[in-house]
Amino acid sequence: MSAARKLVIAIDGPAGSGKSTIAARLAKKLGYINLESGAMYRALALKAMEQQVPLDDAEALRQLAEKSVIQLEPSGDGNRVVMDGQDVSRRIREPDVTAAASRVSSHPTVRQVMVARQRQLGANGGVVMEGRDIGTAVFPNAEVKIFLDADQMVRAERRFQQNGSQSPEEAKRVQAEIAARDERDRTRVASPLVPAADAVHVDTTHKNIDEVVEEVERIVERVASG
Ligand code: DC
Repeated sequence: MSAARKLVIAIDGPAGSGKSTIAARLAKKLGYINLESGAMYRALALKAMEQQVPLDDAEALRQLAEKSVIQLEPSGDGNRVVMDGQDVSRRIREPDVTAAASRVSSHPTVRQVMVARQRQLGANGGVVMEGRDIGTAVFPNAEVKIFLDADQMVRAERRFQQNGSQSPEEAKRVQAEIAARDERDRTRVASPLVPAADAVHVDTTHKNIDEVVEEVERIVERVASG
């Protein structure tokens, strides 16, 4: 692919569809920056929890977002997430923060702050950005838009495997969490999770990571050479 053409690649989809893994792999192959937008909502949610800002107080959360410095540093497989100078990469993956991030991200004014930052981060192209609204709201003119999806049970199973737990109770908890997040992300008023009209849909239910990466690469090559 021409080094001169630095594309914006938007990858959206629900939790467990494989976005983070695919985006990180693809970025590595292309020499692009990988930006995980969900980590920004997670970091803000953590800060709100620490400072006891109610998760339904949109204005307080907006102010908190305005004064937070959230950095996404590409590393190996994914992003190191630094908030106000502190590495929060691990903490933001825990269940309490995951649930809080879903609530924090439902406020339009919070999203405005985050979307503006995400646009700055991707302004020069050469990025794979993943999230829920990248192709619809953050970069509606992205050259490549992919919508990844998979059966809800399969997505829950992947998350469960990632957690490394064996317990049936934990499996049930993860299933319930995915179902609740799907519902909230898809039905919220501000930028609900919907595919962009011009996104290419990739169903990852029966595909392994390599197969999905290859499929997405082919889509990128088609656009880059077109
Ligand atoms: O992708 P993730 O699971 O790390 O996202 C965490 C939460 O943030 C999730 O509930 C949806 C929300 N989110 C969003 O609303 N918009 C994005 N661009 C990315 C994530």
